[in-house]
Amino acid sequence: KEELMNDPKRPVVYELLHVEKHTGARLGRIYTRHGVVHTPMFMPVGTQASVKNVSPRDLEDINSQFILSNTYHLWVRPGDELIAKAGGLHKFMQWNGPILTDSGGFQVWSLSKNNKISEKGVDFKNHVDGSQMFLSPEVAMSIQNNLGSDVMMQLDEAIPYFETYDYVKNSVERTTRWAKRAKEAHNRPNDQALFGIIQGAGFKDLRKLSADGLIDLDLPGYAVGGLSVGESKEEMNRVLDFTVDWMPADKPRYLMGVAAPDSLIDSAIRGIDMFDCVLPTRIARNGSLMTKHGRIVITNSKYKDDFSLIDEDTEDYGSNTFTKAYLHHLFKANELYGQNIASVHNLRYLLKLMEEMREAIYHDELLDFRAQVLEDYG
Ligand code: GUN
Repeated sequence: KEELMNDPKRPVVYELLHVEKHTGARLGRIYTRHGVVHTPMFMPVGTQASVKNVSPRDLEDINSQFILSNTYHLWVRPGDELIAKAGGLHKFMQWNGPILTDSGGFQVWSLSKNNKISEKGVDFKNHVDGSQMFLSPEVAMSIQNNLGSDVMMQLDEAIPYFETYDYVKNSVERTTRWAKRAKEAHNRPNDQALFGIIQGAGFKDLRKLSADGLIDLDLPGYAVGGLSVGESKEEMNRVLDFTVDWMPADKPRYLMGVAAPDSLIDSAIRGIDMFDCVLPTRIARNGSLMTKHGRIVITNSKYKDDFSLIDEDTEDYGSNTFTKAYLHHLFKANELYGQNIASVHNLRYLLKLMEEMREAIYHDELLDFRAQVLEDYG
């Protein structure tokens, strides 16, 4: 399928392989300039051009297919122009698989101070040296064009879930206008794919307004944003139930910021193909491990002299080489190698879950798989 990876007009091509008989979950492939990936899939997060405590070689070892990085952070430091000078983000960080960059739409709200939003964009003080910066749909595109990511996200306004109807409506309309501006500012459309982000909180008609406006722009893929921000799982599923149905079937569908095992399965059941989240690497840094039998906290004193392997069910190097007692010791002694072991482990746990999920979709056994994971993981 060389020609789909190198389609001169389409930097990202989605191929649907199979629809699960009982749920509608999709098995597919996404072709990019940096390789073919199998979906549904999970992207480890490498915010500052590094998946925290994990090397590109580790990522290859655990079959990571795609990673995510952040416009906002790389713009603030070391600067997108420096990365362009290095030959682009893939070359700079030595990850040769596909990369998706988030637009900064989320980070500017969560990390910076004094942000002020207007039709033009967002004024804010950055979190590194406090200097005043201005992010607009055009600036976010120019940065991502410099980074050379395979998939770029439009600048959106990521709003709290429980805003008023009027606020959400204005915000959704602005995010749609920003998507149009992003498309116009995009100067590598044959090489990098721009995805739109559907917002609208919990309001069905506003999610529809958002989806319609973005789909009119005929972008190569679409994300659902503004979820997993404090609403219940039932609420997220309710929004996905109607929103995913409106998303084009011949393009990738991406749910931003989700990694809980049950949510990955429940969202794939509703037709989502792509996921990312900092969760696995973030909790790893506190010694929390995702295992088949739920989360364990390795710093717990009961692991002090537990000489069983870290996790026999997850076949990454660390989990099958070292004992729980050893990893417990590394965390207690603040030895940084422990963070690598735990981070690689959690990522492998999730990537394997996705591999098994794809297998279950292929065999039309996704509901059985879901029941098994819920029973095991809890
Ligand atoms: N990451 C998680 N949720 C969101 C969202 O709604 N927008 C953006 N840009 N990034 C996200």
